[in-house]
Amino acid sequence: MILARSPSMMRNLARRWRSKNLTIGLVPTMGALHAGHASLIRRARRECDRVAVSIFVNPAQFGPNEDFARYPRSLPQDRRLCASCGADAVYHPGTQDVYPAGYRTFVEVEGLSSLLCGRFRPGHFRGVATVVLKLFQTVVPHRAYFGEKDFQQLAIIKRMSSDLHLPVKIVGCPTIREKDGLALSSRNAYLSPEERAQARRLYAGLSRGVERAAAAGAKPESVTQAVRSEILAIPGVSIDYVSLVDENTLEDAPRLSGRLRLLAAIRLGKTRLIDNVPVIC
Ligand code: PAJ
Repeated sequence: MILARSPSMMRNLARRWRSKNLTIGLVPTMGALHAGHASLIRRARRECDRVAVSIFVNPAQFGPNEDFARYPRSLPQDRRLCASCGADAVYHPGTQDVYPAGYRTFVEVEGLSSLLCGRFRPGHFRGVATVVLKLFQTVVPHRAYFGEKDFQQLAIIKRMSSDLHLPVKIVGCPTIREKDGLALSSRNAYLSPEERAQARRLYAGLSRGVERAAAAGAKPESVTQAVRSEILAIPGVSIDYVSLVDENTLEDAPRLSGRLRLLAAIRLGKTRLIDNVPVIC
């Protein structure tokens, strides 16, 4: 497995692959890889001739009071995981390679970026869209793999790719969970043992919402209320949002019909957790 440490090295490698008519799959990550990331890499391995995994903790998507400095970094372990999942290359550029002095260009996906997590993390999705477009420009993948775990991010990347006619297929992949339902996340490492024990209630709450949606006479508000009451059983929790939305527009669902998504973001001590589930009515 090749380690490409600069955009030019990655670009040249991908160019050689394309010149041999090999299809390229890209899995963008910020490292601290876990079984959720591994599922994306393995899927890319099955569907593409060559697989590149990018590992870059992107400063542009962290707010001033967020966890950029303490975000977990574990390159040697991450490289082993990528190799064991069959990746052909790890792309690990430096911050100055991606954002050199004088850098001024950012991508804004309007509307979708200001809803849900965007209300609580201003500028976050601008940073995500920008770095993902830059990764696409460097690797020029045929397919790029993203987790449904970050459902709003997936919707924004799909929108950007369609709006800009990018020649890449965006592949959404199911959320991988712990046995008790907690979605795997690099940020779970921040949880104390007590917080970890309570964190399962986030998924439990969303599952309760799905059950509520199937009950007679259910309304969007009764569904989100069922989620809230389970989450509020966690001592010291605060809720950023619980929302039932249309899965394409991410706008609040006026009624229980069609393909909806139930999403929640909570704060448990210093840790922000997000999760979501489909609701098909
Ligand atoms: P990161 O949080 O490292 O996640 C990388 C990819 O792994 C994302 O597409 C995310 O949705 C997916 N993922 C995370 N946890 C998962 C789980 N439990 N099951 C399935 N997939 C999961 O998301 C980012 O990085 C960044 O915003 C990035 C897109 C790399 C841009 O910087």
